[in-house]
Amino acid sequence: MRIDILTLFPGMFTGFLEGSLLGAARAAGLVDVRVRDIREFAEGPHRQVDDRPYGGGPGMLLMPGPVVDCVEAVQAEADAGRVVMLTPGGRRLDQALVEQLAKFERIVLVCGRYEGFDARIRETLDADEISIGDYVLSGGEVAAMVIVDAVARLLPGVLGHEASADQDSFSGADRLVEGPQYTRPREFRGLAVPEVLLSGDHGRIARWRREQSVAATSRRESASQTPFQRSTS
Ligand SMILES: C[S@@+](CC[C@H](N)C(=O)[O-])C[C@H]1O[C@@H](n2cnc3c(N)ncnc32)[C@H](O)[C@@H]1O
Repeated sequence: MRIDILTLFPGMFTGFLEGSLLGAARAAGLVDVRVRDIREFAEGPHRQVDDRPYGGGPGMLLMPGPVVDCVEAVQAEADAGRVVMLTPGGRRLDQALVEQLAKFERIVLVCGRYEGFDARIRETLDADEISIGDYVLSGGEVAAMVIVDAVARLLPGVLGHEASADQDSFSGADRLVEGPQYTRPREFRGLAVPEVLLSGDHGRIARWRREQSVAATSRRESASQTPFQRSTS
């Protein structure tokens, strides 16, 4: 799979792309991630990429010219791929969407900045929009990293078989979260590992894990309805 990331801040991706899992996947040729600087496509001595919104309002918007030219330049290097603009108002990312994205041969991720994009960019590129959650970041770069990370770990060969993605939270038809997991020591500060996990009975362990997943999923749903408060202790 090839992923192109279009940004005004290419330097933000340096450490990210070299990081452990993704770095190894790139080195092994399992995923090809390329970063392109939108400002290369800006014109004039100041290489301006943004301007004030028509009708007034705060901040600056990304102008259509440099963004569209940058997308078209990377599209010309290989088949056009799916263009995805990162926007707070886009389709909310979840594991089901990550799984769909992982099936594409190529995606082009376009990172916004400032107050966002001129509306004609999406129209011209016939782009999709994805949000990583209902909050506002200062730029699309972190959102692009989230997508690349989540998609790359689903690509064949990226995770070793020891860490198969189909055991993770939100995978499988019912999209349950993972229940509690334990490693050594068997007892920590008076807290013992549940006896079932030491039983060697794989059927019992699988049933227990499933029950724990169901309980954790339902606790999570209730917790999301209540305010996140400071601890009183
Ligand atoms: C400050 S935001 C612009 C917010 C925009 N004025 C609005 O109210 O929707 C700048 C850029 O950050 C990125 N961004 C911010 N929040 C995001 C989110 N939740 N998901 C994906 N991208 C986001 C987008 O690329 C956006 O163009």
